[in-house]
Amino acid sequence: SEADKGTYPHYMLKEIDDQPTVMRKLAQTYFNDDGQVTIDDELLADLQSADRLYIVAAGTSYHAGLVGERLFERLAAVPTEAHVSSEFAYNSPILSKHPFFIFLSQSGETADSREVLTEVNAKGYHSLTITNVQNSTLSREATYTMLLNAGPEIAVASTKAYTAQIAVEAIIAKALGEATQQVAAADFDLRPQLGLVANGIQALVDQKERFEAVAKDNFVDQRDAFYIGRGIDYAVSLEASLKLKEITYIHSEGVAAGELKHGPIALIESGTPVIGIITQERTASLTRSNLAETAARGSHIMTIVTKSLAKAHDDIILEDVDEMLTPLLTIIPAQLISYYTSLLKGLDVDKPRNLAKSVTVQ
Ligand code: AGP
Repeated sequence: SEADKGTYPHYMLKEIDDQPTVMRKLAQTYFNDDGQVTIDDELLADLQSADRLYIVAAGTSYHAGLVGERLFERLAAVPTEAHVSSEFAYNSPILSKHPFFIFLSQSGETADSREVLTEVNAKGYHSLTITNVQNSTLSREATYTMLLNAGPEIAVASTKAYTAQIAVEAIIAKALGEATQQVAAADFDLRPQLGLVANGIQALVDQKERFEAVAKDNFVDQRDAFYIGRGIDYAVSLEASLKLKEITYIHSEGVAAGELKHGPIALIESGTPVIGIITQERTASLTRSNLAETAARGSHIMTIVTKSLAKAHDDIILEDVDEMLTPLLTIIPAQLISYYTSLLKGLDVDKPRNLAKSVTVQ
């Protein structure tokens, strides 16, 4: 069955490797033969009448929502806010006049998100659930559903659902932006880009020994680790850090690169890994300076950089893809480093302590 890990030692590794296939599958599912992006007409009309999008999710799905926030604002020019569902439920923001809600949930069963959806329905607002599980509770309770088509995700640490969620958000943002005549959406060549992304992911998962070596040399013996970035790279830093802490039990933070000097830099000790994610031309040199500031305090710095911004001393170089799709590549090294660190520490990679795959309590 699809949920079989076959010859893989762990589901997580299989699910990391599934990602190029998932990207190609999404390019097939949501584009027609003419290469046009296609989503449900009624959903599109509802999205067009919204004056603000509220993305509600937990954990990794929330981190995909943070990327979505940027995709919807840049491609569709619609104000978008990503929220942690457990916060939204009891400390909700003042809503706009015509809100539309997007629930991101791999399992479709997360209680914190359901709590919000129940309230959204009670108020008569419309919503979309993006999920990996057909007929899941959140998909049944929302006005619309879109599927991730990522195949079963069994490992507690989410990998392919995250990249699939971002790809689906990009699909919706492009459809919405095209419907409202946004130049950015028309110029965004998403279908061929998803092909480039698939190739770029493949190039990374083909270098497993390399990430295993990084895990062994720079992570296994560490107490703390930091991922830093700006903008969309900061959003990925949060997810990279969650991946590490979940399965390696190393204390890890994703930090907005410019915020380091306002506090977190105090935690840097000799050898502390600080990984800089650098994919945005506008902020690349700023993040590089922030990395250097930690190196001056003894950190071990590493960089994850897109080819066009790479310099001779960079560590992990990624294929160039559209600036808005870089999270689909930058997260891969972090997933693999976390996997190998957990493995080398002898931990239960697929079932880390204290965590459940879907959290059905508030
Ligand atoms: C991801 O690695 C976590 N295990 C967790 O944060 C998860 O993303 C969260 O519980 C949300 O789950 P969902 O996507 O099924 O709603």
